[in-house]
Formats: sequence, structure tokens, C-alpha cells
Amino acid sequence: MTIRLVLLGRQGSGKGTQGARLAAHYGIAHISTGEMLRNAIKHGTPVGKVVKEVIDKGGLVEDDLMSSLVKGRLGEADARTRGYLLDGYPRTLTQAQALDDIARARPINVVVDLEVPREVVAARISARREAEHRVDDSPEAVEHRLSLYDERTAPLIAHYRQLGVLSVVDGVGTPDEVFTRLVAAIQTATGVTGPGGDGQSRR
Ligand code: AP5
Ligand code: MG
Repeated sequence: MTIRLVLLGRQGSGKGTQGARLAAHYGIAHISTGEMLRNAIKHGTPVGKVVKEVIDKGGLVEDDLMSSLVKGRLGEADARTRGYLLDGYPRTLTQAQALDDIARARPINVVVDLEVPREVVAARISARREAEHRVDDSPEAVEHRLSLYDERTAPLIAHYRQLGVLSVVDGVGTPDEVFTRLVAAIQTATGVTGPGGDGQSRR
């Protein structure tokens, strides 16, 4: 079967780190909306100009704009045929509803919540600040981003639990330990163990 996965988790929980590894492991597209937006800003595109200020302050970009960007990306050949991992979308219930529509023909088959406490992610992000110089890694923007997560994104955990597609994975530990847990959880949820959708399909 083809994996279509949503990776949920606080800012700094390791969505980017693990998203890249999982996408390589399964041979699927890693779609990070944060990376898409940072690239748009870097290249000075019309979208980049609209979103720069919101992102730098740690706010959330408008739902309609995000959903249309994701709709376009999921319509590309690689995502349609090989499957994908969404990192950073959906982040609001409105986006989750939009994704239900976008993916109606080929639904999401697993949603993973990468669970890492607030104190741990705050420490990881301040360590990253030196290396990557993300404007939204300033202490003020990080505080705002983490509050928005609790208010707007955390409710998606209950939403996907109710739909019966949620797996919760402990994201504290070394990147290798977390990766091993993720692969095990994805196998339990989908029956897929590696590239090409081998293993028994259960959904
Ligand atoms: P986005 O780029 O998605 O940022 P984020 O959600 O804030 O998450 P991060 O990228 O900070 O963390 P991560 O979970 O990817 O962790 P990482 O692997 O880097 O979004 C940026 C902005 O774009 C948003 O604030 C918003 O403005 C906008 N946006 C994007 N999508 C949107 C949407 N759908 N709707 C509205 N607006 C949207 O890890 C963090 C650090 O920890 C790294 O340095 C890493 O090396 C380290 N690390 C990772 N794993 C471990 C480990 N196991 N142990 C120790 N360190 C680790
Ligand atoms: Mg990221």
C-alpha cells in the first residue's frame, strides 16, 4: 500500500529531522510546509512576500493560503503515485477539514503524534538557533509558536484519534531511538515495513 502520513508534533519535536529519514526509508515525498514557505521567502515569490512578517513573528499563515499550497503539492506526480509525509500541515481544525477534501480520493492512512514536552522542545530550539539562524527561533517568537500549538494544533490529536488513524510516539530520546519507534508505529498502523509498501496491508 502507499503511505500517506501526517506527522503532528510541537515545534522542535523532530518533525523535520524524522520526516526526512522516514521519507527516505519509505521512498515517499517529504512535504514540509515550513520549508515551502521559507523557500518562497528566500526566492522573493509573491507568496513569500505575503507570509514573511507572519512567520518571522511566529504566527500562523492563513488557512486558505496553506490549503491551496498543499493542494497543489499533493497533486504533483510523486505525491500521487508514491505517497507522502506531511510535516507542519494541517495545524488547525480548518486545515484538517480542508485536507479531508483534498485527500478524499486517496485518504491519509496514518497520523503520528510525535510527543515531546514543552521544556524539551524549548531547549532543542534554542540549541538550533545558533546553527540555523531562523528568525522565528527568537525567544519571543518561540513562546508565541508554542502557545499557538497548544491552542490551535493540539486539538487535532483528539480529532484524528476519533477518526481512528492516530498513533502516538514518544519523541524523547536519540534521533535513532525515535526513528525506530516511528517505523514500528507505522508498521502497526499500516502493515508497511519499508519502501514499495511491502508487508501486509491492513487499511
Ligand atoms: P515549521 O517549519 O513547520 O516549523 P515548526 O512547526 O515550528 O517546527 P520546527 O521546524 O521548528 O521543528 P520540527 O518539529 O521540524 O523539529 P526539527 O526536526 O527541526 O513552520 C514554520 C512557520 O511556518 C510556522 O511558525 C508558521 O508561521 C508557518 N507555517 C508552516 N506550516 C503552516 C501551516 N500549516 N499553517 C499556518 N502556518 C504554517 O528539530 C528541532 C531541533 O532539535 C533541530 O535542531 C534538531 O536537530 C534537534 N533534534 C531533533 N530530534 C532530536 C532528538 N531526538 N534529540 C535531540 N535533538 C533533536
Ligand atoms: Mg521543521
